[in-house]
Amino acid sequence: MTPPDASADLGARVDAAVTAALAAIETTATTADLQAAKAAHNGQGSELSALNASLRDLAPEDRKAAGQTIGAGRARVAEALAERQAQLVAVEEAAQLEAERVDVTALPRLRAAGGRHPLSMLVDEMSDVFVGMGWEVAEGPELEHEWFNFDALNVDPDHPARGESDTFYVAPADRHMVLRTQTSPVQMRSMLTRDLPIYIVAPGRVYRTDDIDATHLPVFTQIEGLAVDKGITMANLRGTLEHLARIMFGDEAKIRLRPNYFPFTEPSAEMDVWHPGMRGGPRWVEWGGCGMVNPNVLRAAGIDPEVYSGFAFGMGVERTLQFRYQLDDMRDMIEGDVRFTEQFGMVI
Ligand code: DAH
Repeated sequence: MTPPDASADLGARVDAAVTAALAAIETTATTADLQAAKAAHNGQGSELSALNASLRDLAPEDRKAAGQTIGAGRARVAEALAERQAQLVAVEEAAQLEAERVDVTALPRLRAAGGRHPLSMLVDEMSDVFVGMGWEVAEGPELEHEWFNFDALNVDPDHPARGESDTFYVAPADRHMVLRTQTSPVQMRSMLTRDLPIYIVAPGRVYRTDDIDATHLPVFTQIEGLAVDKGITMANLRGTLEHLARIMFGDEAKIRLRPNYFPFTEPSAEMDVWHPGMRGGPRWVEWGGCGMVNPNVLRAAGIDPEVYSGFAFGMGVERTLQFRYQLDDMRDMIEGDVRFTEQFGMVI
């Protein structure tokens, strides 16, 4: 038996549940809040869902009216949910658009691209001339033992170049380390570690206690060459250097060898280069040193000078750059001003 006030009671319960649901929906601030309100007020376990379930306890003749009352309540809640959902989605989309706003009228940030230094490019280019003839590129340390830098190259202990007025000695003195003053120590390192025949070039930085001026830098770059094989003569040396000069300075370039003295070559020569585009007009300028490897040096490396002979040469890369492009002042090469670098092309 249904109590006489059962339908009135149901109507009040539905009204109360709907009022609570609408209040909860109205105060939601986000779509996530709204999902929670939906679960609490319209989902399983909610008052409206419990009322709906209770229909089956009613007398069949009361069920239809009760079902309509509950259905109407749920429909109002569903409508409020949909309306609030639409409002909250609109608010959230607007906030996201604002957060991701891009000012398409803003100027791009101008950042000048860097480029390789002309000296680095020249080192590669000079090395490539030799790699193209089957030579290898060798390396040695810039912090070098005095023995490799001087003694192994037949430089006397009292030779003036070994003085502190020319060479940076590195403390502690009893370790006999120097900042290499030339790339020539790579000659001995290569002879001790490589199999014969040897054809190497060794580009790299060298250090001398020179003051900076237009033609001197205390840190500069040299490229060393060494060939040791059976039957090597001075003609091979000359031909090799002439080939390099033509590639560096054009087909009209010439070289000339003047007798000189270096402890590690015998005979030794100073090498001059001439080319029509030289700064100050076509003229001879000193480019590097060279000679036939001194038999004492070959012997110190365990190579029999009766069987093998060799030639060696070394030249400054800054000077090469200077002669090639008529540069007045070497200091431009170390100042890091991109306007200097740009003139050689911004190769990356
Ligand atoms: N190392 C010498 C210098 O710095 C240049 C040089 C001369 C290198 C004669 C050589 C050579 O290989 O044979 O002045």
